[in-house]
Amino acid sequence: MRQWHDIKGILFDLDGVITATARLHSQAWQQIAEQVQAPWTAALQEQLKGIDRMHALDLILQAAGKQAAYSPAEKQQLAAAKNTKYLELVHQLTPTDILPGIRVFLDQLQQHGYQIALASASKNAPTVLHQLGLATFFPEVVDPSTLTQGKPAPEIYLKAASLIGLRPEQCIGIEDAAAGVAAINASGALSVGIGDRQTLAAADVVFASTAELTLPNLRQAIGGVARG
Ligand code: BG6
Ligand code: MG
Repeated sequence: MRQWHDIKGILFDLDGVITATARLHSQAWQQIAEQVQAPWTAALQEQLKGIDRMHALDLILQAAGKQAAYSPAEKQQLAAAKNTKYLELVHQLTPTDILPGIRVFLDQLQQHGYQIALASASKNAPTVLHQLGLATFFPEVVDPSTLTQGKPAPEIYLKAASLIGLRPEQCIGIEDAAAGVAAINASGALSVGIGDRQTLAAADVVFASTAELTLPNLRQAIGGVARG
């Protein structure tokens, strides 16, 4: 069984963990959902979390019953329109948009010598980190365009661990989405979910908010986890 002292690295999701950009992705997708007449339900919004851009579009088209209605070129246009809207919103982000406790947590991790990597499906992650003033905390960012499979496949977490020279078993991954928790679990890392306990039931540990994400809390919670 893993012990706390085996843990050497923390792998972060970005959207919904470091900053509340899950909301901004939703806002940008809503325009597209309205355009293709997909019912914009809370369940669909939850389903899109953690999912890469083209697969998210597929889920929206599926919800509209229009998977076959758009050519690949039209799909690219829809995805590009979403991204243009999203970038408009991202460029308004400032360090005040870092979620509660995250900045202190990153400082704690650095002070205690933990390795840190970013495992976000977003191609806009470097821009978001820059806007938040957090780029220096993340020398290692997985480039999602190098991946063959998005979340819930483990590939992004396997890559994040290898970027910091660790095995997944030496890492904890932090996620706000069910697809992300599934990706962490499949990689062999321990999973921490941020948000709703039911939605994130597969996580090894769930905190209701990032404000609870401190090194002592994590140590205590992971200490009680018995996944081999
Ligand atoms: C994830 C978000 O982090 O990144 C998803 O949770 C988003 O909502 C995905 O679709 C891809 O982001 P981007 O910025 O590359 O379109
Ligand atoms: Mg997320």
